[in-house]
Amino acid sequence: MKNYAPSQIIILFLLFSSLISCQNNKQTLDPEPVVETTEVLPASTQRTGNIEKGYDYLVNGNYVDGGIPLSLWNSVRTPDNSNILKRQGDNAKVGYQYTVITTSNNTRAVGANCLNCHATYINNEFVMGLGNTTFDFSVDQSANINLLDAVLKSNYSINSPEYQAFIPYKRGFQAIGPLTITETQGVNPADKYAAILASHRNPTDLTWRENDPWGIPKEVIPTDVPAWWLLKKKNTMFYTGVGTGDFSKIMMASSLVSLQDSSQARKIDQRFPDVLAYIKSLPSPLYKGTIDQQRATEGKAIYEVNCSRCHGTSNNKNDYPNLLVSLESIGTDPALVSTNFAYPQLLEWYNTSWFSKEPFAAKLIAKKGYIAPPLDGVWATAPYLHNGSVPTLEDLLNSSQRPKIWKRTFNTNDFDFKKVGWNYVTLTSKTDTKTYDTSIKGYGNQGHIYGDKLSVSERTNLIEYLKTL
Ligand code: HEC
Ligand code: HEC
Repeated sequence: MKNYAPSQIIILFLLFSSLISCQNNKQTLDPEPVVETTEVLPASTQRTGNIEKGYDYLVNGNYVDGGIPLSLWNSVRTPDNSNILKRQGDNAKVGYQYTVITTSNNTRAVGANCLNCHATYINNEFVMGLGNTTFDFSVDQSANINLLDAVLKSNYSINSPEYQAFIPYKRGFQAIGPLTITETQGVNPADKYAAILASHRNPTDLTWRENDPWGIPKEVIPTDVPAWWLLKKKNTMFYTGVGTGDFSKIMMASSLVSLQDSSQARKIDQRFPDVLAYIKSLPSPLYKGTIDQQRATEGKAIYEVNCSRCHGTSNNKNDYPNLLVSLESIGTDPALVSTNFAYPQLLEWYNTSWFSKEPFAAKLIAKKGYIAPPLDGVWATAPYLHNGSVPTLEDLLNSSQRPKIWKRTFNTNDFDFKKVGWNYVTLTSKTDTKTYDTSIKGYGNQGHIYGDKLSVSERTNLIEYLKTL
């Protein structure tokens, strides 16, 4: 516990709460930890920006330099005319997760944008900022790149601007692809992207260097993807609270995949305060099913006794306590706390790199716990916990009910309005990459047992209330 200054420690001796029900006398339940160690995360100054400009840059901007030549793309793909982002020109004809950009060497190319991971559908509705929990990272992301490389070489000369613009993009994906394969579909290895890409960059001028000099372990500890609309309340970024200082700068890490150097980074960085302003402006989506108002009112009282001290009470930003709960107290899967953003090599690199320099310095400060996130729009963010190991809210709030090995369809309409989360089946062994096996390192579903002591009807009321957030 030496990581916590005495002034930052709130120790709550949890006495028997009046809500303990008879149900609870089952010996099988883990006892709730007696001492809660939490740290209040302090805010840092953020640059301000323009919301409209931020949206424009997010969906049209060339923060990822390079990609597949537009001419090749157009010859092999049928146009996607859904245009849900209401974009203009070439961008009106590609899916929302792609952007047609003008590369730094002046060709037109199609590349992936942030929305690959940070937007998705739920119950037929497109939700900007909702983490995409259907993407399949159990497949090597560089497999297609190698194939594309062959196609490009036969269609364009090696010295053509089209091929030259593809090189940095290809190089980035080849570096990360084989080292970031997850065990199951739906979880996300982006934290490890950051570590690998940083290892390939000179810390001062951000130019590319070959050969991984760090010997980062082969393990891939994945995460879920936090909803963007929560960021406006948070004082630090990421599940472990490791991202501190200037958020705009931290967010542009995706550019490392194909960036030329720090002078290009400086130009991209100037646009990111606008992106941050846009992200902070996003609302949480409203629950589309029915809500029993009577039960929700009763659930609110249960929430205030059991949950709000960590998660905050309402949509009011000022009520959110910004707590990091120690690993011992929360008891959820510990692997993320000591990997990815916490690799000592990455911390040292980042905190002496271009990113850490004033003005607008960003720092990675590894801590030993997890942020208690705001719960706005929590109905939409299944599966739950930092690793997406729990498929529904009902399972989260009753740890003995959580499935050990489970499988969902990855159809974004396959929603369970009763338990609130994804429909799933329980299996006895992992059959394929659509199966989530909680016995794998980093995939554990233990801990966070604050709902266990509730009676069935209290839990139902609480879930009814959570739908209203
Ligand atoms: C390959 C998937 C992927 C892409 C692409 C991606 N992100 Fe993320 N992003 C993640 C994951 C996963 C996390 C959570 C990591 C963690 O907390 O440990 C995250 C976290 C964040 C957060 C922190 C949210 C919070 O509440 O702490 C922000 C903000 C963010 N990303 C913005 C962006 C922006 C802007 C882009 C594009 C420039 C982008 N991301 C591209 C996967 C991605
Ligand atoms: C001691 C502080 C604390 C208390 C009390 C607490 N939580 Fe949490 N909660 C956390 C932390 C920390 C996490 C993140 C854990 C992780 O991801 O490993 C979390 C995660 C969650 C999540 C997952 C969010 C997501 O999108 O993945 C939900 C839902 C949740 N809590 C609901 C509740 C409810 C409802 C209660 C009351 C019964 C409650 N919590 C009580 C600290 C707390």
